[in-house]
Amino acid sequence: MKRLLREHAEFFRQYRETFYTTGAIAPSSQFVARALTRPLERHPGPIRILEVGPGTGSVTRRIARLLKPDDRLDLVELNDKFVEVLNRRIRDDADFRRVADRTKVHHVAIQEFQAEKPYDFIISGLPLNNFTPELVSDIFETLFKLLAPQGVLTYFEYMYMRKLKRTFARGEKRDKLDRLDAVIQKMLDRHRVNRASVLVNFPPAWVHHLRHEPEQSAV
Ligand SMILES: C[S@@+](CC[C@H](N)C(=O)[O-])C[C@H]1O[C@@H](n2cnc3c(N)ncnc32)[C@H](O)[C@@H]1O
Repeated sequence: MKRLLREHAEFFRQYRETFYTTGAIAPSSQFVARALTRPLERHPGPIRILEVGPGTGSVTRRIARLLKPDDRLDLVELNDKFVEVLNRRIRDDADFRRVADRTKVHHVAIQEFQAEKPYDFIISGLPLNNFTPELVSDIFETLFKLLAPQGVLTYFEYMYMRKLKRTFARGEKRDKLDRLDAVIQKMLDRHRVNRASVLVNFPPAWVHHLRHEPEQSAV
């Protein structure tokens, strides 16, 4: 309980200090973490996993629990405070310590991240609705470059958030939201395998599963 309160307090502080990149007032619930990691539950052999924007590690904990001995987990996080929290967890928290030898935190923006090899599974927690359409387009291009040909990319977004923001936006802001929606919708039409709704989260969320070629298989 104490750990959870500390995690929420740190997250909220970052929400206030770095709203643009944090984009949420609280870490994701266990239910979002479960929906995001569903394809990992039955993975066969050694795989490479990339988590983008792990924040305080609420989804990372779930990934760590599903990690097998020869799997590899890379965490790409921009915010230095969150990087500190993640490194502390890897040192002091049993769930994270168990996989410390297979886990690395990279303190860098995903757009600048260089990987040795592609990933079988990528999970993103980035607050896309805060970003420009151009940045979101660049980020998806980067993520698909990092994704192995048969890999799965999952990310979440808050339900109806763009529509809600659009209702209150005017002029340039509304135009930006329309262009952002068009970028995301085009990408989803091309790559989405399925979408799960997670109501037990604040705010409720959609979890999208994507592949290079969506007809490859259902997730
Ligand atoms: C909405 S929070 C999600 C945190 C966590 N995944 C969760 O679900 O609780 C967004 C996270 O993305 C990180 N972030 C934002 N822009 C980033 C970028 N360009 N590269 C890497 N991380 C980024 C933020 O620092 C923050 O940790």
